[in-house]
Amino acid sequence: MSKTDGNLKAAFAGESQANRRYLAFAKAADQEGQPQVAKLFRAAAEAETIHALAHLRAMGGVGQTLQNLEAAVAGETHEHTSMYPQFITEAEQEKADKALVMFRFANQVEEIHAGLFSQLRATVAAGGKPTPTKIFVCSGCGNTVEGQAPDQCSVCGGPKKLFREIQ
Ligand SMILES: [Fe+2]
Ligand SMILES: [Fe+2]
Repeated sequence: MSKTDGNLKAAFAGESQANRRYLAFAKAADQEGQPQVAKLFRAAAEAETIHALAHLRAMGGVGQTLQNLEAAVAGETHEHTSMYPQFITEAEQEKADKALVMFRFANQVEEIHAGLFSQLRATVAAGGKPTPTKIFVCSGCGNTVEGQAPDQCSVCGGPKKLFREIQ
C-alpha cells in the first residue's frame, strides 16, 4: 500500500466519523436552542461527506453494483460473525452496559443486512433486477425490514411507529 493509499483510508475514516459526530452535535445544539450553531455543524457535516466520498472514489472503493453488493455482504458478515461477537464478550467482561445494548442490537441487524444483501446479490449476479419492495428501518435499533413495518421490532422490541420507510 502506498502512503497515499493509507492516507486516503485514514482520511475516509476521519471524514466519515466527523460527518456523524457533527450531525449529533447539531442535534444537541438544536436541543439547547442554538440554531445557528446547529446550522454550521450541519453545513460542516455536509462538507465532510463530500470529502469522504471523494476519498472513497479515489481509493477505488466504489465499484459496480454486483461488486458493491459483494463488498457489503463481506463487511456485514465480518461484523456479525467476528467483530460484534468479540465486542459483546469484552463489554460483558467489563460490564460496559451502555455499549453492550447497541453492540447486541447492531450484531443482530448486521446479520439481517448480510441476508438482505445476499438475496439481492444472487438476483443481480443472475442478470436480474430485484422486485421493488418497501423497506423500513427501526429508529431504535436499525432493524431493517422488507415489505411492511411489523407491529413490534424483532430486535429491540420497539413499537411500529419507530419504523421509517426508506426511499
Ligand atoms: Fe449493517
Ligand atoms: Fe428496533
